[in-house]
Amino acid sequence: MFDSAFDCVVLDGTVVTAADVGRYDIAIKDGKIALLAPARSLSKVKATRIIDAQGAYVMPGGVDAHVHLSEPQLFGKGRPADDFTSGSRSAIAGGTTTIIAFAPQDRSDPSILNALDEAQQKARDAAYCDYSLHLLISNPTEQALEEFAVLRERGVSSIKIYMTYEVLQLRDNQILDVLLQARKDLITTMIHAENGDMLTWMTEQLERRRLLAPKYHATSRPQILESEATNRAIALSQLVETPILIVHVSSPLAANNIRTAQTSGLPVFAETCPQYMFLTRKALDQPGFEGAKCVCSPPPRDGEADLESIWRGIENGTFTILSSDHCPFIYDDNVDGKKSAISEDAPLGRFRYIPNGCPGVETRLALVLSADRLSPQKFVEVTSTNPAKLYGLYPQKGALIPGLSDADLTIWYPPSSLEPFPVTNSALHHNVDYIPYEGQIVSNWPRYTLVRGEVVWDRDNGGIVGRKGYGQFVKRGPSAFCREQPEWDVERY
Ligand SMILES: *[C@@H]1O[C@H](CO)[C@@H](O)[C@H](O)[C@H]1NC(C)=O
Repeated sequence: MFDSAFDCVVLDGTVVTAADVGRYDIAIKDGKIALLAPARSLSKVKATRIIDAQGAYVMPGGVDAHVHLSEPQLFGKGRPADDFTSGSRSAIAGGTTTIIAFAPQDRSDPSILNALDEAQQKARDAAYCDYSLHLLISNPTEQALEEFAVLRERGVSSIKIYMTYEVLQLRDNQILDVLLQARKDLITTMIHAENGDMLTWMTEQLERRRLLAPKYHATSRPQILESEATNRAIALSQLVETPILIVHVSSPLAANNIRTAQTSGLPVFAETCPQYMFLTRKALDQPGFEGAKCVCSPPPRDGEADLESIWRGIENGTFTILSSDHCPFIYDDNVDGKKSAISEDAPLGRFRYIPNGCPGVETRLALVLSADRLSPQKFVEVTSTNPAKLYGLYPQKGALIPGLSDADLTIWYPPSSLEPFPVTNSALHHNVDYIPYEGQIVSNWPRYTLVRGEVVWDRDNGGIVGRKGYGQFVKRGPSAFCREQPEWDVERY
């Protein structure tokens, strides 16, 4: 029936895309999806490699759009422990086939192109999976704004800005400059929404009372900081009528603001992360300095009701994407890691100096799927398809469309063929000495990961079988969620 031989055939998968679920075979040729056919109808075709999925879920590979790798020190102490090699190795072992990392502009640099060059240099020949970059803007000079057009030419269609952190925080007028330029160049703006001045003030209140332990990190950043900044970001984007994406939303209050904006028709998109679906601030209140492991920003919230609200927001469409915000710091490291916040006069550390972030690129998919709360299609939508659409990678990534999509696949274990087991850091592939989820039980794990038709992860036969340097820089187009608009006109007001 098919005379041309395929490079690989995946038989009998329960193939899940954001569009449908069905029992299919998938044939792969030259790194692309070649065809989908009824289950076991391809069992006799010629192929270099045959994988029997035995009815297991087969999904478009995970797209993790929020991963910090190889970044210079931005906040004083602390340096991400993963580079493009260890971070992407961890990604494929967890079923993620495309990552988007950051190219941070140095605040003293009037240009953004050096940042892009440097990040591309670090990533070249280093990655196990495909990758792209978001430009992190800390100094939106006239020159930097003019260079947005160059970003687009070079296949970068997203930027990130901060409303907090003294060394990164932009003023509202700067945010408006960025958003207006992003509107012109069809660039998606990601916003870290926490009120930086409120945070500094809260931190000073706590420090004055010598309340310094890791758990006070959560106290210093209550929900109101996040919801205020979220509201302000929405208002700023409304003024210049351009889409925004609020990253790592943690709180019901902020989620509500986003929902209200969406209901009124504004192009406001939102991301959440596993740390806001599984962790509460209790994780920061551990003996000694241990709580520092779960210090990330925004912090994990108060209790079960908050977690529930985030899950509900994923189910009801408030959240467009679910990323890891993998931000890896080694715990037991006094120079670049979490323990750099410990000093002689503060033996339990000072929370304001704890590097902010948790690892998670490898555990994202297994934790969320194992929670068995989202429908398989919703799971694929928020972890693969929507990030691909939002960041201009679709349908090359995030889909299984014959002739169009790269053959990036995550193949799970068949139902009840794997005993539920505890996740342990020792089994993971990043360069960090802990995970926030040590011991949490998962019921499934990616058995195979394929990137452009090549098996790069084979859990039962060799583990990481891909090659460092195989991963390619993927040029991105504009977001599927933004559209060309006429020039913004101030006189309209
Ligand atoms: C959807 O979820 C969000 C976030 O939890 C919540 O604010 C909103 O009320 C929910 N909307 C509906 C219609 O359930």
